[in-house]
Amino acid sequence: MLCPWRTADLGLLLILTVFLRAASSSSNMDGKVMTKNYSTPLPEVNTSLSVVMDTNAVLRCPHTLTRVVLTRWEIILRDKPSCTKAYRSDTKETKEINCTDDRITWASRPSQNPDLQIAPVAITHDGYYRCVMVTPDGNFNRNYHLQVLVPPEATLFLSRNRTAVCKAVAGKPAAQISWTPKGDDCVTEQEYWGNGTVTVQSTCSWEVPDVTTVTCSVSHLTGNKSLYIELFPGTKRSEKSYILYIILPILILIVVGSIWFLKFNGCRKCKLNKMEATPVVEDEMQPYASYTEKNNPLYDTTNKVKMSQELQNEVDCTGLHTL
Ligand SMILES: *[C@@H]1O[C@H](CO)[C@@H](O)[C@H](O)[C@H]1NC(C)=O
Ligand SMILES: *[C@@H]1O[C@H](CO)[C@@H](O)[C@H](O)[C@H]1NC(C)=O
Ligand SMILES: *[C@@H]1O[C@H](CO)[C@@H](O)[C@H](O)[C@H]1NC(C)=O
Ligand SMILES: *[C@@H]1O[C@H](CO)[C@@H](O)[C@H](O)[C@H]1NC(C)=O
Repeated sequence: MLCPWRTADLGLLLILTVFLRAASSSSNMDGKVMTKNYSTPLPEVNTSLSVVMDTNAVLRCPHTLTRVVLTRWEIILRDKPSCTKAYRSDTKETKEINCTDDRITWASRPSQNPDLQIAPVAITHDGYYRCVMVTPDGNFNRNYHLQVLVPPEATLFLSRNRTAVCKAVAGKPAAQISWTPKGDDCVTEQEYWGNGTVTVQSTCSWEVPDVTTVTCSVSHLTGNKSLYIELFPGTKRSEKSYILYIILPILILIVVGSIWFLKFNGCRKCKLNKMEATPVVEDEMQPYASYTEKNNPLYDTTNKVKMSQELQNEVDCTGLHTL
């Protein structure tokens, strides 16, 4: 995670400093004026460091060519008293003040290695870390601003027929969500948790029925992830199926029903015609026969006429039926 060129720069700087100091002290010797600048801090090196949670991190102290009298780590974390770890070279003593987190330790024996180790890194390790090396030539400082990264948990699901929801749960920092193809109507919401993580949710819908599969891309410093999901068929298609499966049968029913109705009605009309036609014929032929004809064999001829008329009507009806 450390930038190599920065370390190289630091090395160069240190070499330069030591060289200049050697030169200045020799001139001082000549002038017999000794300036005590031990306590003057040398230019500080500030480093931003991002570490993924649950991994191990090593924070390095500046390299010095001069003898180190004291190595000190100052650790300032949120909501915690600042913790100090110190090692004195002359007495080979280590000391700790206010340090309660046993995941933060010396990387190895401080007599050999002044570096600090965090194993494993937790979300609470966000903060400032400073290594101070006290030497006869002054203090060498190195400051770290440590940012703990938490990979979000990505999920993708359908909320409605053509609406998908992509979630990046509890990431740190907030993840970026993008869609392929772009949604017609997208809403992105962020939810901040007390532990510094953020849940990002993007809800999109697609109106174009050609879009059948959509991809959600979750971009995060800890790595990118792509998820895809199939949408239900577009509304246009479902309208088609609606027409096919609901409207069409109803139309067919209506048509068939109408035909039957017409048929039935036609028959009734035929019968009515017959009923109306009979008395007229009878009236013309026999004015008072209508109530006696049924019982009187004398009126067979009239009946025959009626029968033939009925037959004629029947023929008309069946003619209509067959149409
Ligand atoms: C230890 O913690 C107290 C607060 O609890 C703080 O005032 C003090 O400065 C801390 N000591 C060091 C050496 O960090
Ligand atoms: C699809 O969702 C939209 C919006 O909620 C709704 O108006 C429409 O009726 C839904 N269509 C189907 C077929 O479910
Ligand atoms: C942070 O808080 C959220 C909500 O309580 C939780 O889901 C998540 O696991 C937490 N993350 C860490 C790293 O503690
Ligand atoms: C993740 O995606 C972003 C853009 O979305 C890109 O800039 C970055 O390089 C990607 N990172 C990795 C590790 O692929």
